[in-house]
Amino acid sequence: MDRVRIGLAGCGSVSQRGLLPHLAQDDIQAWCELAAVMDPEPGRAEASAEKFGAAHHFTNYADMLASDIDAVVIASPIGLHHEQAMQAIEHGKHLHLNKTMTTTKTEADEVIAAAANAGVTVVASPGRGHRAGTRRIKEILEAGDIGRVYFAEIGTAGSGHEHEGFRRGDDILSNVSPAWYYRKPGGGPMYDMAVYALHTITGILGPVRRVTGMSGIGLKERTFKDQILPVDMDDNTHLLLDFGDSVFCILFGTNSQGGPRGFSSPYISGSEGAVAYEGGELVTWGRNVEGGRRAERPRGAMPFVVGEHSDIQESHVYSDIMHMVDCVLNDKRPAVSAEHARHVIEIIELGYRAAETGQTQDMETDFALRALDAPDVDSR
Ligand SMILES: NC(=O)c1ccc[n+]([C@@H]2O[C@H](COP(=O)([O-])OP(=O)(O)OC[C@H]3O[C@@H](n4cnc5c(N)ncnc54)[C@H](O)[C@@H]3O)[C@@H](O)[C@H]2O)c1
Repeated sequence: MDRVRIGLAGCGSVSQRGLLPHLAQDDIQAWCELAAVMDPEPGRAEASAEKFGAAHHFTNYADMLASDIDAVVIASPIGLHHEQAMQAIEHGKHLHLNKTMTTTKTEADEVIAAAANAGVTVVASPGRGHRAGTRRIKEILEAGDIGRVYFAEIGTAGSGHEHEGFRRGDDILSNVSPAWYYRKPGGGPMYDMAVYALHTITGILGPVRRVTGMSGIGLKERTFKDQILPVDMDDNTHLLLDFGDSVFCILFGTNSQGGPRGFSSPYISGSEGAVAYEGGELVTWGRNVEGGRRAERPRGAMPFVVGEHSDIQESHVYSDIMHMVDCVLNDKRPAVSAEHARHVIEIIELGYRAAETGQTQDMETDFALRALDAPDVDSR
C-alpha cells in the first residue's frame, strides 16, 4: 500500500475543529488521503466533504465500509464505537478509535481478538502515555528524585460539552447537539475526559490492580440552546486506584468546573519529595533535588505535529491517527495500543461497579507501554 485511504465516521466537534483540518493539510498527502466522510445527520458529511476535500460522503456507515478505503477513523459518539469497530474489522479496515475505544472490557476483548484474527491495525486514543510531560515524570521517578512513591492525584473537571464554543453556530457543521454525552451507554466524563488522566497516570505508574470509588450525578439536566438535555449517566465520579505495593491514586472525572487546576495534571508524592505542575511548569520538590526545587518545561513535540499542525486544534488526536497510518504503511506494532485502552476502560467499568456495590474490584487486564517510534513527516 502506497498511501492509506481514510474514511472518517462522525463529522461533529472533534472532526470539524481538528481531525478534518489536519487531514486536509498538504504535508501528509504522501502518507494518507481523506477519501471519505460519513455522518447520519443529513447534509453534514456532504458539507464536510466539500469543505475539506474528501472525494466521497455517506450518511450510511455500511456504505462507507463498502467503498474504496483502507482505514476508518471513528469519531462518533462513544456508545457506537464497539459496533462500528467490529464492522470495520469485518471489512478488513484498519482502525483509529477516538477515546474511549469501547465502554466495557468484554467489548474491548472482542475488538482486540477480531483485529488480531483479521490482521488489521488498531490504534486507540489517547496516546497520553507517550507525551513529553508523562515521559519526563517517569524519568524523575526512576531517577529517585522524589524517593519511594506513596500516592498520586489526578483528574478532569470538564465542565460539559454544551459549553463548547464550536457548537454555538446554526449551520449543519456546527449545530451539533452534545446530548449523547449525558446518556448511557458511553456518556459521562469518565469515558470522555478522565480517560486522559487514566492514560497519563497508568503511563507513569503502570497497571492498576484494584479499584474502588463513589459516583453520582450532579446536575440532573443540562441546557443546550433551547433544549433540555436529560442526564442519566454519572457526572461526578471519584475513584481510589491501587497500583500494588501500597501505591495509590485518587482520580476524579466530573462535569464541574476545573478552575485554575490543570486538566489531567498529575500530583505525585513520594518519601523524599513531590512532583506536580505549577503555572505551566513541571516542578519537583525534595531532599534529592539541588536547592530543594527544580522547575522545567518538558520538551518534545508529538509525532507529526509540525508546521501548520501545531496551530490546529486536537493535534494529539491527529498525531494518534498518523501513528495508525505509520503502523499500517511500515508494518509496526502500535504503541498507542488497544491493550492500554482496554486497561483504562476496565478501570472505568470497575469504578462504576465499585461505586454501585460498595465493593473494591480486582482488575484482570494488564498492559505494557511500548516505545513510540516517531518518523519524520518528510521521510516519505
Ligand atoms: N469534543 C471534543 O473536545 C473531543 C476531543 C477529542 C476527542 N473526542 C472524541 O471524539 C468522539 C466524538 O466526539 P464529538 O465531541 O466530536 O461528538 P459530537 O457530538 O460533536 O459529534 C458526533 C457526530 O457523530 C455523528 N453520529 C451520530 N451517529 C453516528 C453514527 N452512527 N455514525 C457516525 N456518526 C454518527 C453525529 O451526527 C455528530 O455529527 C468521541 O469519542 C469523543 O470522546 C471529542
